[in-house]
Amino acid sequence: MNPTSRPAVVIDNGTGYTKMGFAGNVEPCFITPTAVAVNDSFADATRPAAKGNWQAQHSAGVMADLDFLIGEEAVARSRASSTYSLSHPIRGGQVDNWDTMEKFWQQCIFNYLRCDPEDHYFLLTESPLTPPETREYTGEIMFETFNVPGLYIAVQPVLALAAGYTTTKCEMTGVVVDVGDGATHIVPVADGYVIGSSIRSIPLTGKDVTQFIQQLIKERGEHIPPEESFDVARRAKEMYCYTCSDIVKEFNKHDREPSKYTKRLTGIKPKTGAPYTCDIGYERFMGPEIFFHPEIYNSDFTTPLQDVIDMCIQSSPIDTRRSLYKNIVLSGGSTMFKDFHRRLQRDLKKIVDVRVRASNARLGGDAKAQPVEVNVVSHPIQRYAVWFGGSVLASTTEFYEACHTKAEYEEYGASICRSNPVFKGMY
Ligand SMILES: Nc1ncnc2c1ncn2[C@@H]1O[C@H](COP(=O)(O)OP(=O)(O)OP(=O)(O)O)[C@@H](O)[C@H]1O
Ligand SMILES: [Mg+2]
Repeated sequence: MNPTSRPAVVIDNGTGYTKMGFAGNVEPCFITPTAVAVNDSFADATRPAAKGNWQAQHSAGVMADLDFLIGEEAVARSRASSTYSLSHPIRGGQVDNWDTMEKFWQQCIFNYLRCDPEDHYFLLTESPLTPPETREYTGEIMFETFNVPGLYIAVQPVLALAAGYTTTKCEMTGVVVDVGDGATHIVPVADGYVIGSSIRSIPLTGKDVTQFIQQLIKERGEHIPPEESFDVARRAKEMYCYTCSDIVKEFNKHDREPSKYTKRLTGIKPKTGAPYTCDIGYERFMGPEIFFHPEIYNSDFTTPLQDVIDMCIQSSPIDTRRSLYKNIVLSGGSTMFKDFHRRLQRDLKKIVDVRVRASNARLGGDAKAQPVEVNVVSHPIQRYAVWFGGSVLASTTEFYEACHTKAEYEEYGASICRSNPVFKGMY
């Protein structure tokens, strides 16, 4: 059967989680941590300094290549056994270790999706501002190790915008606010093309929210085993955090009726097996607040998210600005806090209104600047909007034409992977 008549494989590798599945589906088949656990005893035996002859070293090398786990299993195994060490092949949105990344892809394809890579076209994603060399490495691994017949590497925010295909009317002009686990990008897109010079990245991500909550819980003196504290904070964040409209009012609400607002998490101490509990109070709204008042978390970076979005749009071409303010699309797990989009829309609107009023005052008389519509779009698939956009695009016929094929790769080399054209399916 021709690979173009089979659904394409769509994999969005994030710093924290990988979303993978097949084009045309509404949801990824698997969302699993982008983590690999390798057996250190084999890894040690492969080092030249290790005892034994070259044959022993060789077979240890083979075993090291085979004995590894990915995703949830990797996280669980590395916790339970000290022989396995956990590594994260992606850092801050960029591949940091290609060897581990290849291992990770191998299991995604053969153990999770259980497909033959030679039978499917692949759509992979990359963070904005990824250097072109990275695409070449990805191409080399995909075409040479996995023998894929076709490959397209899409920019994550463009896919997130394409996710609006079925949720609202298709609009390929907008600003994508992608807040994941290890990277936060604000990316303006006009007619499917990223306005590269206006992209903003900020050092506040999902991991920072977790760390902030972890710190608050610790300062309050909750008794949690130290090795569990990050995970408790992450669970507290994902289950109970929300965005408030005013911190002072929220503190008062919690103080008036603590029992109404306090939540309790339970767990088992890994070493002793004894149960523990942890109360979650102010952390519920203080966690997400770091995006709106970053100074409470990081004294080196104090620009609120709404200001960064405003600066991003103001630095984009003047004829695109109104359309950009009108379509601010949220993407990524860390935009899932309840009422996040409302708060962002309100705070950004305030900045824009102040500017409009100032310009009206300058103009004076009857001349008035038109009000600017600010719209922060939230939709149910925001958590994996990038993957969903990929699923939609990779199910169009234009996708197969836009892909680089194995034959092209063999003829021209990995440099063809450097550019991936915006194709008609995006409109
Ligand atoms: N319901 C939720 N509320 C708040 N945060 C959540 C929720 N669900 C997941 N998260 C957080 O979202 C983050 C993962 O989001 P996502 O999968 O978009 O990131 P990623 O793609 O792995 O990372 P990046 O895009 O930065 O490379 C994690 O920090 C996770 O704890
Ligand atoms: Mg992501």
